[in-house]
Amino acid sequence: MIVVTGATGNVGRSLVAALAEAGEQVTAVSRGVAPVDLPGGVTHVRADLAEPETLRPAFDGAKALFLHDGGTGGHGLDTRAVLTVARDAGVARVVLLSSQAVVTRAESPSHGGAMRAVEDAVRGSGLAWTILRAGGFASNAYAWAESVRAERTVAAPFGDVGIPVVDPADLAEVAAAALRADEHVGRVYELNGPAAVTPRQQAEAIGAALGEPVRFVELTRAEAGARMSAFMPEPVVATTLAVLGEPNAAELRLSPDVEAVLGRPPRTFAAWALRNVGAFR
Ligand SMILES: NC(=O)c1ccc[n+]([C@@H]2O[C@H](COP(=O)([O-])OP(=O)(O)OC[C@H]3O[C@@H](n4cnc5c(N)ncnc54)[C@H](OP(=O)(O)O)[C@@H]3O)[C@@H](O)[C@H]2O)c1
Repeated sequence: MIVVTGATGNVGRSLVAALAEAGEQVTAVSRGVAPVDLPGGVTHVRADLAEPETLRPAFDGAKALFLHDGGTGGHGLDTRAVLTVARDAGVARVVLLSSQAVVTRAESPSHGGAMRAVEDAVRGSGLAWTILRAGGFASNAYAWAESVRAERTVAAPFGDVGIPVVDPADLAEVAAAALRADEHVGRVYELNGPAAVTPRQQAEAIGAALGEPVRFVELTRAEAGARMSAFMPEPVVATTLAVLGEPNAAELRLSPDVEAVLGRPPRTFAAWALRNVGAFR
């Protein structure tokens, strides 16, 4: 049996579906109630990563674990305790969803530092491990869903600065491979998209998927920062703006790792927009 934490999130949902389709027995973990679209045969267990003991029933009898940070970026999670519960339950393998910020923003305690600590706990866990360092997610574009639905508008800073965003479905496919095959043990993969794509191009791609134009409104750095401050602490806002506005060479590098693992190029943002157009209608 394979346990998927973060099972109702962008990556977890696709991963649960991919594993179930491959014939694996899957336990899906999140704090909320079981999603209505849970694939047949998948068990859902409610548990909280912030309270490792609650994970014990979900981990019992599992051979492998997909470890997700619950959207915390590594802050406030006792990863060692989570992995101790996993080891005690008989889990032999862990695949961690990490972030490229561990390398590209290593100096930032809010980005690189917190996830580095999570990675260190995984490496020191005694379990066979694989680490997936993701770039920015295509699904961050859901933040524009409401304004696209209401007024066919995307408002974002740095309209002409692109980064190679990764489709969470690609992350899920790589995770499924690493959970099932031995060749990925001890590997660190950097996972991003096939080309840099700017916010303006993302708005165009959403418009093309809808079959209607979507207007792009460029926010100033200060306007964008003020909006982000409503749901992010200040240091996270500053580094996020730096990643979006002044991506460094490591953030722009097109990694070969999705293709190396899956045998095909990473999916484009346009393909993500087409598959997820329902959120923008
Ligand atoms: N977004 C990016 O650009 C980016 C880039 C690099 C890396 N990442 C990494 O990817 C993560 C986000 O992945 P995602 O998009 O799959 O997340 P997501 O869509 O925000 O999903 C979060 C999932 O985790 C569950 N969850 C949240 N808190 C939990 C807790 N305390 N205990 C158990 N489950 C919990 C949620 O369900 P419940 O709420 O019901 O518990 C949900 O299933 C980030 O935290 C970051 O480390 C993201």
